[in-house]
Amino acid sequence: MPTTDFSDDRYSDFEARFDPFQTDRQARRKRNPAASRKARGFQQTVDEAAQSEKLDLSVHTTYRPGRFETGWLLEAVQDFFDQALVVDILSNVKGGKEANVYCCQAHPATGRGLLAAKVYRPRMFRNLRNDAIYREGRETLTADETPVKTTDHRIMRALNKKTDYGQAVAHTSWLMHEFTALKTLWAAGVSVPEPVAVSGNAILMGFIGDASFAAPPLESVELEPEEAQAVFQQVTGDIETMLQLGLIHGDLSAYNLLFWEGRATIIDFPQVVRSTSNRTARQILRRDVQRVCEYFIEQGVRCDADSLYETLWKRWAEPRADWVAADLSRWEEDEE
Ligand SMILES: Nc1ncnc2c1ncn2[C@@H]1O[C@H](COP(=O)(O)OP(=O)(O)OP(=O)(O)O)[C@@H](O)[C@H]1O
Ligand SMILES: [Mg+2]
Repeated sequence: MPTTDFSDDRYSDFEARFDPFQTDRQARRKRNPAASRKARGFQQTVDEAAQSEKLDLSVHTTYRPGRFETGWLLEAVQDFFDQALVVDILSNVKGGKEANVYCCQAHPATGRGLLAAKVYRPRMFRNLRNDAIYREGRETLTADETPVKTTDHRIMRALNKKTDYGQAVAHTSWLMHEFTALKTLWAAGVSVPEPVAVSGNAILMGFIGDASFAAPPLESVELEPEEAQAVFQQVTGDIETMLQLGLIHGDLSAYNLLFWEGRATIIDFPQVVRSTSNRTARQILRRDVQRVCEYFIEQGVRCDADSLYETLWKRWAEPRADWVAADLSRWEEDEE
């Protein structure tokens, strides 16, 4: 399975924030320039990282995290080990711009084989452009899945001013929206990974793939015309079920559809949008449908994205337009 190169420039911010030695090292370099030339043993560095983060490194993992990854990863998955959901981290499946996904061995008592742990990059939430568009009309969720009360002025102010505390609240809310969307959709029979557990910075879910291969994104798969038609029907059926539940993915494309054993599984839900209370919902649905159709047209499926999205919107979202208006006005009052 592919692994992430943490020496990549894209991770420099991440490194600066999570390298426990950086401040130390800068100070030492000033005092003693020669010190920067001395190589540090990998194991020593890992142990020091764990110590500095006060983490339980008695957990042995087959996958050996990189130097800047250690504290962050183990802190995020520690709860899953403590709750006897996971016994090992086997590999890093993929490092995305928002999160890293790891393949884990489930605890035998769970009756599951492999699980995927999606561990978020803290900065993702601050870098997400136009995040307000997705947040509109949806509640700010806390770690126990209850919404923050809009009368809680302390939290509302922190969110608006984007203080550190406000950003931490927003971070938890993105994570919890992904987790609750997975739960709702899984219960409704939509093809998503089974949600298993959530921690402060990670979601544990069913692993799509097997011990040798993680399921590839549909984007990298060429389908036979007949299979393409069947998978297209399945995906549009799932989009429709989501809309029935008042949900729109918000970042749907062949990159966020994993293909395994003839089925597509929808992943990556932090920006999930409420079709009933978000004023941009219609455009967001249109973009999702267009991107999905682009892939299937390349695979030989005949489809018209505009008429498909119009049909879905008129069938499931427009009939609720009245209470959209009511909800929006309430939401606007809350914002003031
Ligand atoms: N449940 C899963 N089972 C197997 N692989 C998964 C699972 N969830 C995610 N992945 C893999 O991890 C990748 C990143 O996951 P996801 O899209 O949720 O995060 P992301 O940070 O938004 O990534 P990107 O920036 O690439 O969109 C996916 O493209 C897929 O390869
Ligand atoms: Mg993704």
